[in-house]
Amino acid sequence: MKTLHLASELRVTVDRWRAEGKTVALVPTMGNLHDGHLALVAAARSRADRVVVTIFVNPLQFGPNEDFGRYPRTLPDDIAKLEAAGVDLLWAPPVEEVYVNGYPPATTITVAPIANELEGAFRPGFFTGVATVVAILFASVRPDIAVFGEKDWQQLQIVRRMNEDLRFGIDIVGYPTARAADGLALSSRNQYLSAQDRPRAAGLHAALKAVAAGIGAGRRDFTALCAEQVAVLAGAGFTPQYLEVRSPALAPAAAGDRAFVVLVAAVLGGTRLIDNLPVRLD
Ligand code: PAF
Repeated sequence: MKTLHLASELRVTVDRWRAEGKTVALVPTMGNLHDGHLALVAAARSRADRVVVTIFVNPLQFGPNEDFGRYPRTLPDDIAKLEAAGVDLLWAPPVEEVYVNGYPPATTITVAPIANELEGAFRPGFFTGVATVVAILFASVRPDIAVFGEKDWQQLQIVRRMNEDLRFGIDIVGYPTARAADGLALSSRNQYLSAQDRPRAAGLHAALKAVAAGIGAGRRDFTALCAEQVAVLAGAGFTPQYLEVRSPALAPAAAGDRAFVVLVAAVLGGTRLIDNLPVRLD
């Protein structure tokens, strides 16, 4: 595996692959790789001739009081994992290789209105940071395929929409969430949980499953159904921020729908966790 830092070096390698007729898949990450990321890499590997992973802790998607400073940076470990996973190229750029005319960038991308709801309502500017960096990664790597985890369901919808609106023409692949044995979605931020809170954190997935079971049993009083589980989460020590049933494209859920996604965010012992569960009735 090649590890490159400069956009110009990345371009030379990807251009050579293209001239050889190879297809290229991109897996964008912020590093601190876990099995969830490696599942995305395996999905990319099975869909393209060459796999590029990017590691960039993007300052533009962190709010002023968020964890940009302490976000875990583990490049040597990440390199070893990516080598073992058969990745062809790791691009780990410094900030000036991403934001070429200085930081913060003058040009940003906002995918409204979905960027302002759910996560966006609690993390103002987050999705502008994500959409902007993903557009820059797309333009730098120019992949045929890009693989994103469904764990960040709203991010995935925003990336799909941006890809269509800006005509990147990339095949966006969403890959199911990897979970620990107790159901907790794998996330780099799980390591912020204390030893006492870690087992409790599985309550988030349990709440999603309870809402999904209610839908499966025919309930369509989505607000009341979610309120019941918000109360359960609060009783278990969480501070719930939202728990909602939406359509897969994040429109309001309708009683006659056959596909839904249940989305949740909650804080547990100072750690903010998000998760979701797609529900298909057919
Ligand atoms: O999901 C992530 O890790 C990040 O939001 C992404 C897509 C790599 C953009 O920084």
